[in-house]
Amino acid sequence: MTANSKPLAVRSWDEWSPLKSIIVGTAANSCFPFEHERMISSTTTAAHAAQFKKDNPFPQYILKAADKELDKFAKVLRDRGIEVFRPNTVDWRAVGGYTGSMVRDGLLVVGSTIIESAYSWRSREKEVDLMLKDTLFKLAEDPRITIVRAPKPPARETLYDGYPEANKVNPLNGVRWAINNSRIAFDAADFMRFGNVVVGQYSHVTNDKGIDYVRSHLPKGVLLELLDVDDPHCMHLDAVLLPLRKGLLIYNPDRTNKEALSNIKLFDNWDCKPFPFVPKARSDPPSYMTSNWLVLNLLVLDPHTIMVDEYDPEFAEFLRKECGMEVIGIPFRHVNCLGGSLHCATLDLVRDS
Ligand code: NVA
Repeated sequence: MTANSKPLAVRSWDEWSPLKSIIVGTAANSCFPFEHERMISSTTTAAHAAQFKKDNPFPQYILKAADKELDKFAKVLRDRGIEVFRPNTVDWRAVGGYTGSMVRDGLLVVGSTIIESAYSWRSREKEVDLMLKDTLFKLAEDPRITIVRAPKPPARETLYDGYPEANKVNPLNGVRWAINNSRIAFDAADFMRFGNVVVGQYSHVTNDKGIDYVRSHLPKGVLLELLDVDDPHCMHLDAVLLPLRKGLLIYNPDRTNKEALSNIKLFDNWDCKPFPFVPKARSDPPSYMTSNWLVLNLLVLDPHTIMVDEYDPEFAEFLRKECGMEVIGIPFRHVNCLGGSLHCATLDLVRDS
């Protein structure tokens, strides 16, 4: 078989087509990210802010349990015939980094184009290189796959200069963004794929230059639409929207609504359902940096199958009964402590569409 007749190892256009290949993160050695005080207060849980300091690993019991959960998750996927890649193990403390568990944040895969995040969080700037040099970068040696590497970050961070005048506010709630627009900044998880439309949001980590940059690197014919999101701690769109299949979406009614969704033409003929309950509070193990809305941060395996955190049986029942999904529950409570759930902890590389 010649290189060009091999199926592409990266081709994924949406969040729901049948999953064939994926990266599942690893938790070992994760440390609390050390960032500017304004960023920490904007994006993490106030009760835990003091933990976000230099050289502070997450508690070992959490990391061990999280890796068990991630290994089990990977096994369930493999048992269903899905190819699973795992990142390299990295000593995050030694490199002043954060985690290998939240692989979604660093790379936006649209078709066979991979756009690397220009992270606001400087603790993350080497993450993709360190985690994925032996997996993703090997797959992407195929000339048909485009990797857009992040622009080199400045030696001196400028994102916090000139506050407050230099920073815009979120018009929906008057909350001032943590960063200015002095350089390109975005997290891939502020964007979600819907075929030839990508939906994105501004957040405390994604600015105008970041949005323009993503738009300019999307494959030809893919349109970027922006959703207004009302969240004082806004960071990552995958606790706001959960597309289940083409035409069916669950949304977070605390952060958006039918009117905002209707500004995006794509959703004209979609059934957009609000999350039907109050999400359960999560305190043990601690939620250091995320809200109860991780309940929406799930992995769709195909248009009729979804993996969920087994902690949320009520929502699982809703997905079965009201949305016609087969639901596979797995434990994920300890991965949640590190900043996300099943969607954040994965990066799908191939979906058949
Ligand atoms: N920042 C979001 C999590 C996104 C996965 C939240 O805490 O709701």
